[in-house]
Amino acid sequence: MTQEHRNKSGFETRAIHAGYEPDPTTGAVNPPIVASSTYKQDGVGGLRGGYEYSRSANPTRTALEGAIAAVEEGERGFAFASGLAAEDTLLRSLMTPGDHLVFPDDAYGGTFRLVDKVARPWGLDYTPAAIHDVSAVAEAIRPGHTKLVWVETPTNPLLNIADIAALANLAHAAGALLVVDNTFASPYLQQPLSLGADVVVHSTTKYVGGHSDVVGGALVVRDLELASKIGFHQNAIGGVAGPFDAFLTHRGLKTLAVRMDRHCDNAQRVVEFLSHDSRVAEVIYPGLESHPGHAVASRQMKRYGGMVSFRVAGGESQALAVCERAEVFTLGESLGGVESLIEHPGRMTHASVAGTDLEVPADLVRLSVGIETADDLVADLDRALG
Ligand SMILES: Cc1ncc(COP(=O)(O)O)c(C=O)c1O
Repeated sequence: MTQEHRNKSGFETRAIHAGYEPDPTTGAVNPPIVASSTYKQDGVGGLRGGYEYSRSANPTRTALEGAIAAVEEGERGFAFASGLAAEDTLLRSLMTPGDHLVFPDDAYGGTFRLVDKVARPWGLDYTPAAIHDVSAVAEAIRPGHTKLVWVETPTNPLLNIADIAALANLAHAAGALLVVDNTFASPYLQQPLSLGADVVVHSTTKYVGGHSDVVGGALVVRDLELASKIGFHQNAIGGVAGPFDAFLTHRGLKTLAVRMDRHCDNAQRVVEFLSHDSRVAEVIYPGLESHPGHAVASRQMKRYGGMVSFRVAGGESQALAVCERAEVFTLGESLGGVESLIEHPGRMTHASVAGTDLEVPADLVRLSVGIETADDLVADLDRALG
């Protein structure tokens, strides 16, 4: 398949074919795991295909980077050892000490920790803002100092929705770039670069990998100057995806579309059940008309995703009990895998923001709805609610 043909193809075709041509020697349809740190040169400086050392480039990683760029409708993709390694590289590629960034006030706890405990002592300043409120983000921007407006959408774990197109205009008018963490939506449901964002961030550990068997991260951009800065820092810092991890992540990406459709179907069933249950105080899901971000989500997302949060009527102790009683939903951190997970953000993923402005409600339970039989998921929650 030629590059031109691939660029005109649908999402699923790109997810399966972009980034790799069957191996010219063997015809292998999957990218080989190239477990080599170095490459024989045909004379000094005579590189074959640009490969000299696997921190700089590795063919298994190149294939993944091409595929993730294609599904995000970007020009260049970069694969990292984890989502946080991708984020750290991005911050250091695009910011210098003294710069300011605007940041979600309900960001993923690990991203908050990176910004607050690592980037701030290094010299970055930040302002948390309610990213679902365009005017709150506008107020947080400091013209001349703000280099990045950083959003997650939907956010983790409160599933707030940021209006990507509106925030891109706002950031650009202030001379800043818009970064979108697209982990929760996945490239199948939302393509931020096409809505005006400058950089897409992924924890590919989640939906892109999809099987809870590999940790990874990615950055995707359209602008080649940004790509050059990120590429330089990827090599200079060195937090790259290894070939085994790149292979697994790429394999996951090929089935993203079918998995996401089932995640969305099952989440919808779970939401219908929870919404009619008196043991549940509130269901938080962008697919609900009552969700404040519903209209924006309907505009910018293909469907509403597999993440569902809810507040338990009995308070924190009940929320903890629900997490512990669930059986089909496995008690655990992370999300986006084929298996359903349940967790208590306040005590688990978001423990690092306790006592800060970013603290999450104590009665909140977060579900990553997997692709098991929907009836089994509903029955499990019914039992777990007690
Ligand atoms: C929205 C979001 N962004 C980034 C990360 C960090 O990614 P990783 O755990 O792969 O470093 C996570 C992890 O849970 C996340 O949920």
